[in-house]
Amino acid sequence: MEKFVGTAPSTATISLILTLLFFTSAVTAAVNIPDESNLRRRSADKGLCAHLIEPSGYPCTEHSVETNDGYVLGLQRVSSRNVGLRTELGSPVLLQHGLFMAGDAWFLDTSEQSLGFILADHGFDVWVGNVRGTRWSYGHKSLSEKDKEFWDWSWQELALYDLTAMIDHVYSTTRSKILIVGHSQGTIMSLAALTQPKISDLVEAAAFLCPISFLAHISAPLVLRMVHMHIDQMIMAMGIHQLNFRSERGIHILDSLCDGHLECNNLLTSITGKNCCFNNSRVNFYLEYEPHPSSSKNLNHLFQMIRKGTFAMYDYGTLKNLREYGQFKPPAFDLGQIPKSLPIWMAYGGNDALADFIDMQQTLKELQSEPELLYLENYGHMDFILSVNGKEDIYDNIMRFFRSMRQSSSF
Ligand SMILES: *[C@@H]1O[C@H](CO)[C@@H](O)[C@H](O)[C@H]1NC(C)=O
Repeated sequence: MEKFVGTAPSTATISLILTLLFFTSAVTAAVNIPDESNLRRRSADKGLCAHLIEPSGYPCTEHSVETNDGYVLGLQRVSSRNVGLRTELGSPVLLQHGLFMAGDAWFLDTSEQSLGFILADHGFDVWVGNVRGTRWSYGHKSLSEKDKEFWDWSWQELALYDLTAMIDHVYSTTRSKILIVGHSQGTIMSLAALTQPKISDLVEAAAFLCPISFLAHISAPLVLRMVHMHIDQMIMAMGIHQLNFRSERGIHILDSLCDGHLECNNLLTSITGKNCCFNNSRVNFYLEYEPHPSSSKNLNHLFQMIRKGTFAMYDYGTLKNLREYGQFKPPAFDLGQIPKSLPIWMAYGGNDALADFIDMQQTLKELQSEPELLYLENYGHMDFILSVNGKEDIYDNIMRFFRSMRQSSSF
């Protein structure tokens, strides 16, 4: 691998490596990703509600919000199948998915296994977030996905524009403080957003699955190799703005890769850590939804965090930083700004190669509050949303935490 750093790597080689890297959702030997044109045709005018949530018998409404920088995001509101529960609306919970995923991630298994369904069945008013660029949030008031400007963002914008717009919308609709659940990049976004008082004022409590803010101790071997090779900078230099692994080329490469010498099961492990508990026979179904697109700049920002060990805004380089931020270095997100009074709950896994324990310790050190922690020794990064035992292992615990808020709060 080191060898081709010095020579000019071909586009195909880079695509191949990227495909490896980003195919974090689920991969087995039987890879069968429907291609993009297929998906688009099938999904014409149909949102996430109609695709995945209503067919399971849950009332679901589509909402759309525009961010301050013009992106049009889809949000879904899901309630219980039980009519009685539906009338006494519980606290709003906003679910914020991770990288290369979207709101569908919370509904991929059965009603008894998936957090989105479980929360609705327990009387919570469930709101499903989808960040810009994903299948359910693909609009902009003036730009098209073909424009490179459409992809000019990282998780910083996802935190400060997308999450902010979604929280504002949920708050103004429900007039109630919001409970947040984030997974992976959804926790980066939430932690960054919660350092802003105008956001934390609207949030009642937060539950984080695989919490990430610092990334210096990431252990996933394949990710580390990419970082050291500066793949992120290469693709930016090549003028690739969108990372989309449903493109024909991506699928082709993946297909041949998985038929060849690389075993795809190990591929997922070398990115996310060893997952104990997701349902292997549902992988083809998962692949109808994941992976979703993201931007090259976002990848670059995440890799900057791994290289520098900081939880800071995007680094444009000294001169442009000066123009953007008025200082040479990008400003850090100060976790100490998250109010001590905001209750936080975190779950982390012993086999998670992305949300590392040492990095999490750093997060805990910088927070003013003392979050409640749940440690699951066998869990890898994907298990936290796809485990067949998720309800018993994690989600019952989240609901207990959220209910304890209700009892202790004054309203
Ligand atoms: C795994 O998925 C298959 C196919 O959807 C299903 O029949 C089976 O019951 C699932 N297993 C578990 C443990 O949920």
